[in-house]
Amino acid sequence: MKSIVTPSGKPDLTRRTFLRNTAATGAALSYTKMAAHAAAGAPEGSDTLKVALVGCGSQGGILKGASLRIPGIKFVAVCDLWEKKAITMARAIGGEVKPYTTMDEMFKAHPEIDCVLIAAPDWLHAPFSRKALEAGKQVYCEKMMSNSLEAAADMVRAQRETGHLLQIGHQRRSNPRYQFMRNRLLREKNLLGQITHLYGQWNRSVKMPFEPKGGIPQEVLTKNGYVDMFQFSNWRSYKKYGGGVISDLGAHQIDIFNWLLGTTPRSMIASGGIDYFKNLPLSGGGTFSYEQLDNAAVVYEYDVPVYEGGVPVMEGDKPKTHLVRAMYQVLTTNGSQNYYEKVMGVEGTIVISEQPVYNQVYREKDTTGEKVGMWEQLARQGFLRKPPATVYNKFWERPKAWNIPDKWLAKEGTQDVRVSIPADPYELPAMPKELDEKPPHQFHLENFYNTVRAGGKQSDLNCPVSEAYKCAVSVLKINEAVATGRRIDFQPSDFVVS
Ligand SMILES: NC(=O)c1ccc[n+]([C@@H]2O[C@H](COP(=O)([O-])OP(=O)(O)OC[C@H]3O[C@@H](n4cnc5c(N)ncnc54)[C@H](O)[C@@H]3O)[C@@H](O)[C@H]2O)c1
Repeated sequence: MKSIVTPSGKPDLTRRTFLRNTAATGAALSYTKMAAHAAAGAPEGSDTLKVALVGCGSQGGILKGASLRIPGIKFVAVCDLWEKKAITMARAIGGEVKPYTTMDEMFKAHPEIDCVLIAAPDWLHAPFSRKALEAGKQVYCEKMMSNSLEAAADMVRAQRETGHLLQIGHQRRSNPRYQFMRNRLLREKNLLGQITHLYGQWNRSVKMPFEPKGGIPQEVLTKNGYVDMFQFSNWRSYKKYGGGVISDLGAHQIDIFNWLLGTTPRSMIASGGIDYFKNLPLSGGGTFSYEQLDNAAVVYEYDVPVYEGGVPVMEGDKPKTHLVRAMYQVLTTNGSQNYYEKVMGVEGTIVISEQPVYNQVYREKDTTGEKVGMWEQLARQGFLRKPPATVYNKFWERPKAWNIPDKWLAKEGTQDVRVSIPADPYELPAMPKELDEKPPHQFHLENFYNTVRAGGKQSDLNCPVSEAYKCAVSVLKINEAVATGRRIDFQPSDFVVS
């Protein structure tokens, strides 16, 4: 990643440079000038990409909405096993978009399709990606790659065999705030010093399953591998169709651990269970139980290469490494503090989330005063921002001003000599308005479409399927660690598909 410091020494946070960071190629820049609108019926140009959506549920709607903001994207067909959903989605997009219930029918009727977006349940990602790649399409498939490692490996192989693009929907990798944090603050400025720990959580309140009334005829469900309409609607909870919450929610953040550290874990220990979602009464009668973990706590260990001046430091003939522990938790019984990731180094902490409300940076108390000047300078240059006089504590359940001094609360550190001196607060800089207005998935889709347009390679994608496979291993092995109660030691070869 090139430095984007302007001659004034300020970081260039303009739209253009953010896009340079997120775009796959220079060619992408030519699209940034176009207005943020497009529709199914937008006039066709040489840049037009003809897109099909498979899976017209909630995430299909998000991908559709974000894609339609990108100039030159023209949906031609949508597909969903549930015909009603395909029809509703086709109408919502408008124009001449045609609804289908199978990919075979859709591909037959529309050989002109360039790109396929897959937002079906996880168990279908591998067969659907292979089908689309073998039909000559470029594919953007939602995370989690799959609920089985064998099927995830098949996705890597299908991409290699066909040579077409396969991007996986770990969209934080394309988020300019995450890229700014990793590339500028951590790698270029070494803001936090040696990183020792990462932390991530996704806490969610109790959510009972959807109890469908009517829907798809049973013979259609059976023919397509679904037990019944209830399991079809609540596929995430069943081993056959999904990976449970650790894969549904955890995959996003555990992928970010690997991405931030630029490597894969050497070991993992985990604890979890089905502790709450068992035999819960349903309003329509009967009971409901998760087949997958409803909570888990995981600790990964990473050996992270040490760099000096951008060059790896060697110890003998091996790269020198330091240990980073990354702790992750997912809960489905309590939504406290929602979801975010935290990077902790000896000189400070960054808290980041897809929700911009979590964007705090703390400097550890610097007893020598050496680092204070550097942080203040970075704040002047725009790499950080000093919080306004009214500081909002993001770690209250609802961010709230704490500028009203409370004598009792202000008694910092007097209770116990071991209490750390409070860290100085900063914030990540705001994104330019036009980027801030984009939905989070748009950046990742832009990276995909730009790579397609430029005739780019897998390595131009921000989340090529082989990178996502590393996340799939890191996540799906949690089930094994919990089931056996044993630590898992990884080999680097575990993360590569042969
Ligand atoms: N990247 C993200 O932030 C994010 C967020 C949510 C979901 N997701 C992922 O998106 C995918 C879909 O999740 P969702 O929340 O939209 O689920 P959903 O249940 O709302 O939607 C799934 C859709 O797939 C359809 N479907 C099921 N079987 C099909 C088949 N054989 N052929 C065609 N269509 C079929 C269903 O009818 C439904 O419309 C999942 O893989 C999920 O992990 C990603």
